[in-house]
Amino acid sequence: MSMPPSAAAPASRRVLTGITTSGTPHLGNYAGAIRPAIQSSTEPGVDAFFFLADFHALIKCADPARVAQSRLEIAATWIAAGLDTDRVTFYRQSDVPEIPELCWMLTCVTAKGLMNRAHAYKAAVDANLAKDEEPDDGITMGLFSYPVLMAADILLFNAHRVPVGRDQIQHLEMARDIAQRFNHLYGRGQDLFVLPEVQIDEDVATLPGLDGRKMSKSYNNTIPLFEGGRKALKAAVAQIVTDSRLPGEPKDADGAHLFTLYRAFATHAQAAAFRTDLEGGLGWGDAKQALCEQIEAQIGPMREPYAELMAHPERIEAILQAGAQKARAIAMPFMDRLREAVGLRQPVAPSGAGKAAGKTGKAGRARLVSFRDEDGQFRQRLFAADGTELLLSEPFGDPKVLNNLGRSFAERDLVALVADVQGLVALEADGLCWARIPASDLAAVQAALAQV
Ligand code: TRP
Repeated sequence: MSMPPSAAAPASRRVLTGITTSGTPHLGNYAGAIRPAIQSSTEPGVDAFFFLADFHALIKCADPARVAQSRLEIAATWIAAGLDTDRVTFYRQSDVPEIPELCWMLTCVTAKGLMNRAHAYKAAVDANLAKDEEPDDGITMGLFSYPVLMAADILLFNAHRVPVGRDQIQHLEMARDIAQRFNHLYGRGQDLFVLPEVQIDEDVATLPGLDGRKMSKSYNNTIPLFEGGRKALKAAVAQIVTDSRLPGEPKDADGAHLFTLYRAFATHAQAAAFRTDLEGGLGWGDAKQALCEQIEAQIGPMREPYAELMAHPERIEAILQAGAQKARAIAMPFMDRLREAVGLRQPVAPSGAGKAAGKTGKAGRARLVSFRDEDGQFRQRLFAADGTELLLSEPFGDPKVLNNLGRSFAERDLVALVADVQGLVALEADGLCWARIPASDLAAVQAALAQV
């Protein structure tokens, strides 16, 4: 592309892209975005981040049922299409609260004039003016700030490459602009953000729809991917517009979008053979049958996994939750750094905690997690910011008593506690023992408690 290369080392290849969850995936989405993205995620050295841009969906769609359904369908589609969710980071934008937080920080450094120039916003204004309406009639702040949210999606994970369609090039330029401004204002000579590069895949198929125009929901010319099953696929293919040449008459393969569709699901050899058949007079009816079979050969095997997932949304949910955890393991410590950079520092930890926090090293936040053990008793675990388990509490029958104890220790200075002969320290309050820990862990436990 025309953009200058970023400062990122060429070896580092974090690739990130978002999918707005406002529709049902069709064949064009599959061949033009899903298939190439999954393909590129299997390349060696690629660290792929794919996410469902459901906050973006709210800008375009105010129908809650539609948004909810689309999130499920799109997630199920990607998984059924073969995405290896262990290898890539696959998550939902709305499960990563660091994204809207960063979005606000970026909003505060983004020039309004830059947003005034966004194509989508300008098109909306022009449409209003053409109708003699107020320029901003019906335009929300969501639409106006759309590019800032998209910049947050990308910059939070310091993506190097962002594969998108041509219509998104300007958004990538804006993300770079915003990143540069933030780096300049807050980096103190260092780059906080990588400048992302847009990636336009020239050889990726843009499928024509039934009428030959680009396949798009807005043209109502799509071929469904899974919706309606094999029958719906056949019915749609039957509606593909062709010329009126009869069987036996030679066909112009290059002029036929049916051939373009076929090619997107065929090897070179298969496409060449199909071309020969068309030029040799293959009837359109037979050609449609052949196209159907060609598509079905690729899509057919995914139908059952897709249906299985749609019948078990909890499986989709578990995958997305695991993805969100992976994403947040990166986002949380980075966000701490950004908060620090803009002057929103962590409150100072109580005396003695500083050193221990240094020992645990990582930024992020410690957590106190309550759970019920196999015996039905309630316990708590304390985790350091880097995820190491620091403490397992004694069992309690009453979760309220346990929670109060945990809370009281979070507010207590542990420095005065003394180890017993075995080197263990009992954390006791109100005559109750919350937990016993090795004296050598005391500082780390104290530092962690200061953060929960
Ligand atoms: N705006 C993108 C589209 O409509 C979707 C999107 C949201 C996205 N956030 C992103 C794409 C971040 C790439 C990176 O296609």
